[in-house]
Amino acid sequence: MNHSSKADLVRRLSAPVPRYTSYPTAPHFHDDIGQIQYLDWLSGLPDTEEISLYIHIPFCDRMCWFCGCHTKQINRYDPIPPYISAIRKELDLVREAIGFMPTLRRVHLGGGSPSMLRREDLEALRNTIHRHFRLTQDSEVSIEIDPSDLAGEEFDAYRAFGITRASIGVQDFDERVQAAINRPQTFEQTARTVEGLRRIGVGSVNVDALYGLPYQTEETISDSIEKVRSLNPDRIALFGYAHVPWMKSNQKLIPEQALPDALERLHQANTASDMLQEGGYVPIGIDHFAKPEDALAIAASEGRLHRNFQGYTDDACSSLVGIGASSIGRLPAGYIQNETATGNYMRQVAAGHLPVARGIELTDEDKLNADIIEQLMCQYSFAISSLRASHGAQADTLAARIKDALSADPDNLANFDGDTFWVQPQSRAFVRTVASWFDARMQEKAARYSMAV
Ligand SMILES: C[S@@+](CC[C@H](N)C(=O)[O-])C[C@H]1O[C@@H](n2cnc3c(N)ncnc32)[C@H](O)[C@@H]1O
Ligand code: SF4
Repeated sequence: MNHSSKADLVRRLSAPVPRYTSYPTAPHFHDDIGQIQYLDWLSGLPDTEEISLYIHIPFCDRMCWFCGCHTKQINRYDPIPPYISAIRKELDLVREAIGFMPTLRRVHLGGGSPSMLRREDLEALRNTIHRHFRLTQDSEVSIEIDPSDLAGEEFDAYRAFGITRASIGVQDFDERVQAAINRPQTFEQTARTVEGLRRIGVGSVNVDALYGLPYQTEETISDSIEKVRSLNPDRIALFGYAHVPWMKSNQKLIPEQALPDALERLHQANTASDMLQEGGYVPIGIDHFAKPEDALAIAASEGRLHRNFQGYTDDACSSLVGIGASSIGRLPAGYIQNETATGNYMRQVAAGHLPVARGIELTDEDKLNADIIEQLMCQYSFAISSLRASHGAQADTLAARIKDALSADPDNLANFDGDTFWVQPQSRAFVRTVASWFDARMQEKAARYSMAV
């Protein structure tokens, strides 16, 4: 590689772009959207509407320095029971606003670390969910697990809760990397968690791994991915570490001089991706891998993949209700985000208010751009003809927009045949950059993002 092409590559890799887990992205949410709007949107759902729930638990018993999630370290269990009561009250309020008993396609407990929850709190939460919503044989119930939380007896509580899918945080198995991110976790701890989940019949187990962490090299990544493969998970999420210390003060403890540069990050991602594919995993979107028989891989092969705040999903529900502090939900009309600070959230709910802090109502143009960006992030292409079928005349301006974007692209990242627009196969790592060409709101408001790869 000559110097200028290497410099070009580093420039493209380092470009700050959103991760596009929503469109419009969260920095565009505003506080004109509040409880009244949300009540209106919930009560307007047709009584055939199936919904999904995301329930956020913003607590951990450790603070990993790399963490970008909305969470708080607690040293005692005491703050959790009143928080679970607030969540149950919020479920009462949401159900009252909806006005009928919807079927739930998905329930996801995310965080933070929902694996901190004790049996009695899981039971209480489950009872409230079952009182208000209809779960079927096909409903998927999932939880995020930090293996260091588990003593062994939790698995029975997971079985009783009806967990069908679990996501285990690993990040990296290398001890030096773990020390630099304050995330000690042995291979045995992780293996015991996978075994426990398999024993209670959890059909889909996901492992989260990261590249781009301090002291990671292609060698350490290879070793960690080899260990991940030996656990035989159904899915693997391979995220690039997003270093945003201006937003997350815990990341200021990350030794920046030990972070791999943009080019090393790309090599690490490629090494891990090659190893996973050699191990029989199918790549899905920018950061997921799944066994070919896993529901996510099947959805991807059938063009049914979606993207939401939890990343890639085969959940086709157009209504995702977010419960808990900082949760984000999406209804057909727009996005809603709850109060971020746990205290404010609990006070609002105690006062009988839906604890909405901000959101955004989607315009017709937003809906078109959201569809384009989701299709690019999921399948690297879209066709104007099919967008015209779902968005009508809104799609008529697309050919001109695409031509403008391509004429301003010095790197030849994408191509267009008059109907289909696609990311060049060799440029797929830059799909977030290509998606940003269709982000009509990007110029509206300055926001800082992590790097493109
Ligand atoms: C809520 S955490 C997982 C559950 C549990 N608390 C744990 O750590 O095992 C969700 C996942 O987000 C990913 N994550 C957290 N911070 C990140 C960051 N700064 N950049 C990229 N991924 C990150 C990690 O892979 C993590 O497993
Ligand atoms: S990575 Fe998981 S355990 Fe660590 S601080 Fe973040 S949410 Fe908590």
